[in-house]
Amino acid sequence: MLVKHSLKLVSSALLAGATLLAAPARAQDSLNIICSVQADWCNGLSTAYARATGVKVNLSLKGSGEALAQLVAERENPKTDVWFGGTGDPHLQAAEQGLTLEYKSPLLSQLQPWAQRQAQQAGYKTVGIYSGPLGFGYNPELLAKKKLAVPQSWADLLKPEYKGEIQVANPASSGTAYTMIATLVQLWGEDKAFDYLKALHKNVSVYTRSGTAPIKAVARGETAVSISFVHDGPPEKLHGFPVETVTPSEGTGAEIGSMSIVKGARHLEAAKKFYDWALSPAAQEIPFQTKASFQVPSNVATKLDPNVPDFRKIKFIDYDYAKYGASAERKRLIARWEKDVNSLPK
Ligand code: F6P
Repeated sequence: MLVKHSLKLVSSALLAGATLLAAPARAQDSLNIICSVQADWCNGLSTAYARATGVKVNLSLKGSGEALAQLVAERENPKTDVWFGGTGDPHLQAAEQGLTLEYKSPLLSQLQPWAQRQAQQAGYKTVGIYSGPLGFGYNPELLAKKKLAVPQSWADLLKPEYKGEIQVANPASSGTAYTMIATLVQLWGEDKAFDYLKALHKNVSVYTRSGTAPIKAVARGETAVSISFVHDGPPEKLHGFPVETVTPSEGTGAEIGSMSIVKGARHLEAAKKFYDWALSPAAQEIPFQTKASFQVPSNVATKLDPNVPDFRKIKFIDYDYAKYGASAERKRLIARWEKDVNSLPK
């Protein structure tokens, strides 16, 4: 089922990629967007924007790490105009590497303080569009069948009974998984965090490419537990799947999902217009209307959906976005994970 679903996603991504290549070079009536949120949200955005403005949006769906890799590859000849969504760390890295363009939207003052801070930290080369906490997804039916308790803490995930029952993404391609590493390093210090990741490795059945794949696998009964953003749980539940979420008792991190305009964008005027629109409450309600995901939106005037996680009930660490979004730090931590963790036998 997962394979079928992934194939569907891949084929729609390929189709979108093909459209991207076929787009006209300079006309301002089309826009090329790398979209790093759920497919339903990306499609909802492009449809609503085309309806509102007549501008055709060509989508390419990519996880946060893969999107950054594409911008690096396109540096000399950018084909992308806007990078929409995905965790904030690689957007900060793109800003630092000069891949994205400084732009101060007139809507900046309407945004949550965390979204404005994300923009300031990047010299206005990115901006926060949503925020959401990291936690665990679980399938209550499968846990009951296997007589397993709901994990309540990071420590619980190391228990031998969860061997082979946990999925998480690969941090090289997924911002979700990188957020997990950065969170653990901030909770316990780097060496202890890596000891934890090595122990967790024994219980992980697979490291997926996309950050949302593990919770989809949970929903479909393919694995009991995932390490996921908790806002990706309700869409599965709304589609009728048995999935719940929980945040770890030791504390957790949150992402600041971001948006950036690509330096050298061929459709710059259209890109700025889309960027302003994407910061408006009307655009920020699209993930709720499409039931795609339920992050906290950055525009304070956006009407909240009841499925949005209540941040007041979650124990958060004081996540250092500037430090863990720095190029050298992100590259170093991912390389250490590849060497010290991913290379280990199970
Ligand atoms: O809702 C989709 C989402 O969880 C976003 O909140 C997040 O920014 C993105 O996926 C991360 O995806 P990935 O881990 O694949 O980079």
